[in-house]
Amino acid sequence: MQDHQVQLVRDSFALVRPIAPQAAALFYGHLFDADPSLRALFRGDMVDQGERLMTMIGSAVGLLEKPDVLMPVLRNLGARHVGYGVVDAHYATVGGALLLTLEQGLGDAFTPEVREAWTAMYGIVSRTMIEASREPALAT
Ligand code: HEM
Repeated sequence: MQDHQVQLVRDSFALVRPIAPQAAALFYGHLFDADPSLRALFRGDMVDQGERLMTMIGSAVGLLEKPDVLMPVLRNLGARHVGYGVVDAHYATVGGALLLTLEQGLGDAFTPEVREAWTAMYGIVSRTMIEASREPALAT
């Protein structure tokens, strides 16, 4: 990811933060529309889950320039997701739902450059998590 893309992701996420609960609800709506079978994987309260997701995205956004800190966190997260029943293909579905949510949440601020920057960011996060999912011994 280029420096200016990190900045774009950071600035646009700052616009989403004030509407994080709504964005999370929108996200899960899109996710379950895209693949209703995913609903069964989520056992906890969806409001809590939405908060955890937005917090995790926030941490990843904040740590993009500190890969030595971010990567182990993502690898552990990816390994834990194996236990939640998540498989590789789900990451593309989640990525699609995330972009759709950002598009709606950001409106005009979701420029093609911003889309590209988020796609790059999600690519890094999901690739790292998927890679680690092949080493479930990492799960803590
Ligand atoms: C980029 C990606 C993702 C991030 C940042 C993320 C983040 C999180 C976080 C922070 C948790 C809380 C539990 C923990 O820390 O282990 C969690 C749980 C969970 N995630 Fe993800 N996740 C991602 C991708 C996915 C994908 C692709 C799926 C597939 C549908 C998924 C399904 C779940 C499920 C089922 C749980 C457990 C829910 C429960 O306990 O009811 N996640 N995720």
